[in-house]
Amino acid sequence: MRTSLAVVLAAGEGKRMKSRLPKVLHPIGGLPMLFHVLNAIGAGVDRIVVVASPAWKEEIARAVGREYPQAVVLVQTEQRGTAHAALVARDVFSGADDVVVVFGDTPFVSSKSIELMRGKLADGASLVVGGMLPDDPTGYGRLIMQGSQLVAIREERDASDAERAIEFCNGGIMALAGATALDILNEIEDDNEQNEFYLTDAVEIAHLRGLSVAAIEIAADEALGINDRSQLAQAERLFQTTRRAEFMAAGVTMIAPETVFFAHDTTLSRDVVIEPNVVFGPGVTIGEGVTVRAFSHIAGAHVAPGAIIGPFARLRPGASIGAGAHIGNFVEIKQADVGEGAKINHLSYVGDASVGAAANVGAGTITCNYDGVAKHRTDIGKGAFIGSNSALVAPVTIGDGAYVASGSVITEEVPADALAFGRARQVNKPGRAAERRNKKSSS
Ligand code: UD1
Ligand code: MG
Repeated sequence: MRTSLAVVLAAGEGKRMKSRLPKVLHPIGGLPMLFHVLNAIGAGVDRIVVVASPAWKEEIARAVGREYPQAVVLVQTEQRGTAHAALVARDVFSGADDVVVVFGDTPFVSSKSIELMRGKLADGASLVVGGMLPDDPTGYGRLIMQGSQLVAIREERDASDAERAIEFCNGGIMALAGATALDILNEIEDDNEQNEFYLTDAVEIAHLRGLSVAAIEIAADEALGINDRSQLAQAERLFQTTRRAEFMAAGVTMIAPETVFFAHDTTLSRDVVIEPNVVFGPGVTIGEGVTVRAFSHIAGAHVAPGAIIGPFARLRPGASIGAGAHIGNFVEIKQADVGEGAKINHLSYVGDASVGAAANVGAGTITCNYDGVAKHRTDIGKGAFIGSNSALVAPVTIGDGAYVASGSVITEEVPADALAFGRARQVNKPGRAAERRNKKSSS
């Protein structure tokens, strides 16, 4: 097993994002773009160094520390170019057989490409570059090949007309043999148009030393870099298009896939049907045969097989919907278990609650879970029936098979199989309406 180090360059200021959030923490599919990169680097890499600017170090370290405790965040005090940034990790270079350098703002780099490049190192290359054929090569470094050997990368700014005509471009991933990496990078100078230390100059230095330098081809999408909000939207579009295609290939029906939006971790089973205009936030699992009707929003929720959600339903974090249950229009469920076959079909809020199997929660039912200070639970038993427009003031328990009359405000436990009235009885005054009417018209 070869030891490995990944260096993720993320010290750009991201000025064009015009944001208080570091560029690399902006989400794609609900996951910070930096985390997409860290996931691609994956578990096969021993050490990870993320290079951040002084301005964003703390935010980036906090976010990375929560999810990737094996990664270290180091600061590049001054932005002097990509080689200068990679050298921030110089102290850990020589300990690794493979050093992989990637950019934190290039979210679709794949683990497959990284593995392929490391494979070339294992086969004896000293340096490997991920090259690509973009539709428009403007702005990219050009790869100058001699047979199978890469001899130099020329940045567009420094390229001749002939070099600019080259279509094979630097996708921004580089793998270096740890044995020579530090030596090569130390030799890079800043004698170019931008007075920066270009990582790309490592190629020519290695070649002139007689070392083997290779290029592999990666998909242009893998090198999609994000500098502004419009590229962020482009990346999101690409992410969504890919996920939709994957889900359809796995047996999910979407009537208008272009209107359905997924998170990075959405899990859908076979024969799920998703109607138009549905949004999935992070943390959703949907079981086999579930139908999600139009205009529903689902985040942090689990839906068991055969349930029907929506139209216009909102499942919030902690919602767990049992098999065959129905959650209808304008119903919001939060932190609640809804039992098998239960029905909450119209205009309800059910939060911090459990609803037993086959219970029927009528239109306009509200669990009053918050008293202004703390949240409390509502437990509704199996087969219970909650009449329309009832307020269940938590903490409160409705027993199995109990029946709550419409319009009730329930503040005390309802025993199993009891009928509870939590409202005033109706009083009829015969003829009184007509009397009032007559009085008005004679005055
Ligand atoms: C770089 C490559 C270019 C390639 C392109 C692919 C170099 C010199 N050029 O150009 O060949 O085609 O990417 O997208 O490498 N960064 C730092 N510190 C610095 C400078 C940059 O951390 O001092 C980070 C940036 O935040 C960014 C990445 O390195 O994530 C790349 O830098 P950028 O300035 O975008 O390089 P390009 O000009 O796009
Ligand atoms: Mg760039």
